[in-house]
Amino acid sequence: MLDGNGVSRPVVAVESSCDETAAAVLAPDGTILAETVLSQSAHARYGGVVPEIAARAHLAHLPGLMAEVMGRAGLGYAGLGGVAASSGPGLIGGLIVGSSFAKGIALAHDLPFVAVNHLEAHALTPRLPGLVEGGAPFPYLLLLLSGGHCQCVAVEALGHYVRLGTTIDDAVGEAFDKVAKMLGLGWPGGPALERLANGGDAGRFAFPRPLRGRPGCDFSFSGLKTAVAQVVAAYPSGPLPGRDAADIAASFQHAVAEVMADRAAHALAAFSQRNPEGRLLVVAGGVAANQAVRAALQRVAASRGFGFAAPPLRLCGDNAVMVAWAGLERLRAGATSPLDHAPRPRWPLDAPDMALAWGAGMAR
Ligand code: KG4
Ligand code: ZN
Repeated sequence: MLDGNGVSRPVVAVESSCDETAAAVLAPDGTILAETVLSQSAHARYGGVVPEIAARAHLAHLPGLMAEVMGRAGLGYAGLGGVAASSGPGLIGGLIVGSSFAKGIALAHDLPFVAVNHLEAHALTPRLPGLVEGGAPFPYLLLLLSGGHCQCVAVEALGHYVRLGTTIDDAVGEAFDKVAKMLGLGWPGGPALERLANGGDAGRFAFPRPLRGRPGCDFSFSGLKTAVAQVVAAYPSGPLPGRDAADIAASFQHAVAEVMADRAAHALAAFSQRNPEGRLLVVAGGVAANQAVRAALQRVAASRGFGFAAPPLRLCGDNAVMVAWAGLERLRAGATSPLDHAPRPRWPLDAPDMALAWGAGMAR
């Protein structure tokens, strides 16, 4: 469990905040011993996540997934050093299922429990061993781009996050999903839209670049989304001609990438004012899997003398490896949670209870 140097046994974690049911076991040094992610397919026919179906599916799948990762890691529960679970923000039904399941293991085997903020788990992903040379020391600038969030965050220390900008309307993944729906693609739409865009002409449609050049580093996507809807509405009803759909997808994706680059440039300037020693730009969340977005951000980072890090594709979307890693970092800092910790549908990164006790976790 906990010894003088922190955690000396593996940590197991559960992710259940949305429609991915996931479990993972990490060694004390962060090496992945076993991991699994089940993307629930039952939502596709509804064109979006149905919270009640998600919660029931987590309940049905978690015991099997947990047994699977523990088996692959070659461990019994008594050999663990702690149990972590995504405890917000997210869909409350799934959060209750996953955190209660994890607490049950902690209680039965007398293990420390860590209630992990899902956004913190995304934020700390680049610190997983082997992802960034030198281990992504604090501080760094994070662009958190997912289906529910779109934020620029100064990651200054464990538990210390400063939100520099956020979206004033849709999250970027939501915009991808809605445009994908207009183009008749399946759900979730981001990956399908990217595949379609790969064969399209990104210069054909001059879509707007919302907030480009404006001060600050907030985002907006509703105007861009409306512009795409207007182009699509001009076609007769029924499926769009394939060429046109690909060109719309490519033009939309290009607009998003350019907006991201502009917003990231502003965010880097704001970040440097606060943290002149920080030299790393990190992108995380489902949309971090998008190659056009990654490439645009990498260019901005390089042009400003910053390093750039993005998780491997399988760790961009929701997974339990990132939850286990955040759990490990918190365990090392002595920041465990009581078993009556209540999961929270809303839990911003800068909430007062994210900060650690003074001095804990400040090591860079
Ligand atoms: O982080 P994530 O798995 O879940 C949330 O916490 O929201 O992000 C899911 C979002 C969805 O909106 C999905 O369409 C988007 O990430 N996404 C992508 C790509 N892969 C996933 N968007 C654009 N391009 C992709 N390749
Ligand atoms: Zn997420």
